[in-house]
Amino acid sequence: MAGRTKKGRVLVLCALPYTNAVPHVGNIVGSHLPADIFARYCRLKGLETLFVGATDENGTPTEVAALELGISPKKLTDTLYRVHRDIYSWFEISYDNFSRTSTATHHRTTQEFFREIYRRGYVSEGEMRLPYCVNDKIFLPDRYVEGTCPVCGFQFARGDQCERCGTLLDPTQLIDPRCKVDGSVPVFRDTKQLFLELGKVQDRLERWIGSKRAWRSQVTSLALGWIKEGLKKRSITRDLRWGVPVPLKGYLDKVFYVWFDAPIGYLSSTKEWAESRGRPNAWKRFWLDKDARIYNFLGKDNIPFHTIFWPGMLFAHGGINLPYDVVGLQFCNYEGDKISKSRNWGIFCENVPQVGLDPDIWRYYLISIIPETRDTEFKWEDFKSKVNNELVANIGNFIHRTTTFAWNNFGGEVSIRKRGEEGKELVRQVQVVASETGKLLDEVRFRDAMSKILAIADLGNEYFQRRQPWKLIKEDRDECERVIHDCLSVCEGIGILLQPFLPRSSDRILGMLGSRDRSLSEIGKVRARIKLGAKPEIPFRKLEDSEIERAKALATKSRPVSDYFTK
Ligand code: MF3
Ligand code: ZN
Repeated sequence: MAGRTKKGRVLVLCALPYTNAVPHVGNIVGSHLPADIFARYCRLKGLETLFVGATDENGTPTEVAALELGISPKKLTDTLYRVHRDIYSWFEISYDNFSRTSTATHHRTTQEFFREIYRRGYVSEGEMRLPYCVNDKIFLPDRYVEGTCPVCGFQFARGDQCERCGTLLDPTQLIDPRCKVDGSVPVFRDTKQLFLELGKVQDRLERWIGSKRAWRSQVTSLALGWIKEGLKKRSITRDLRWGVPVPLKGYLDKVFYVWFDAPIGYLSSTKEWAESRGRPNAWKRFWLDKDARIYNFLGKDNIPFHTIFWPGMLFAHGGINLPYDVVGLQFCNYEGDKISKSRNWGIFCENVPQVGLDPDIWRYYLISIIPETRDTEFKWEDFKSKVNNELVANIGNFIHRTTTFAWNNFGGEVSIRKRGEEGKELVRQVQVVASETGKLLDEVRFRDAMSKILAIADLGNEYFQRRQPWKLIKEDRDECERVIHDCLSVCEGIGILLQPFLPRSSDRILGMLGSRDRSLSEIGKVRARIKLGAKPEIPFRKLEDSEIERAKALATKSRPVSDYFTK
């Protein structure tokens, strides 16, 4: 299959979710699902693929959330880590390792990383004014200070970044700052901190970003915009207890800023994966070997961190692979408005399993709203019609009519000596569309890739309709057998291509066709005899209104985090 990724090694990374933010549907479509499809596709292609992640557990977000709940940060993260892990596994997100940034390996890796950039002269000391909440008696996380953006005037800008104009901020820049926990006005106190000298890597960053022709333009232009403004040093330590301790005299009572240690979590999770496989050096294949390609999947609010801050850290460290592609996605809204947990507006994933629908049904609809180039929207009407009119009526129908015909008329077993001319032409067309699917996936364009699979089912349905096997069976049984064989070959192609998208259904379909574990290169290959592995079942069932109602009732209730801690 042609495309950007030739045979090789791929590391797929998904932005590490904050532990205390239990995922909603926007988080799934905005990073985990696209990362998963891409990882599965790379595996299917036979590339050496690794997909790792972790929960982002350190720093002030956790400390403040624990404070609000009156529990320890450890208790908070232990419980919520499991909630995250279970949700991703329910959606069949195929992490090879899903870790946490509170592990010993992560602490060690972060401290080693720091020592190296310090040794190489990229860390400076300085004073910093930080917001301190007199009521709560803690320094506030940047994100917990809210105020007016000095650049665009947005009144609810967060202390680390303005959500409206994207500007990276420092809480001191906010006009009329407020503490987000209790609304009080924070005081600013001077404390000694360590800084990453981003200015020293600015030129290298600029050249690197400029060389990335295949990146989405929204990512490149955002990143270059930052560079143009000139990069200033950025603090990498905080006065807190919960986090990775700073291993430097004079700073031993501080921890690293959460945005410093979190991306290092990509490395630590890879190391843990390697250790758990009994090959402790295997992480180097992905992070040090120049042939490896690293793909980062993340939401648009994370773009500056993954195009400037993290690569800047990597330049400062030296010797470690930079991202090959930074796939920055847009946001997904819910029924006309922004998803909001506090306003109870959205789909909240912890309740999705109780709905009783197959994960692939969700995946199918969610794929169609991956916010690849612009914001998208979850709509129940759309959910139902996409599933019923495309998955069921197109793909499902073609597979079902073909397999039941083979079962009822040929005892589930069809053989041919040679493909007929029309069959050859059909299969050729399928192969063309299949390779286009691959090309789109190489370019991380999931929605278009999925619609190519629909196009293949269209080809199959048209062929079935035109060749009329129900008539042919009475006139020319051999020809009818060839036609059904052609159609089964197309079903098999669909089953193979569905693997990255709908892994369970793909398995089920290929199992039914008696052709498990097929690779991409086998699409359209002639198999003299196709013997169904089981009596055909309907591959996808139509969604009833009552099911949509039930799903809506259950999945749209947000569960307060405190719920997990009251017995
Ligand atoms: N926890 C951050 C967020 O949810 C993302 C961290 S990504 C990493 O916005 F690169 F730091 F890991
Ligand atoms: Zn702004």
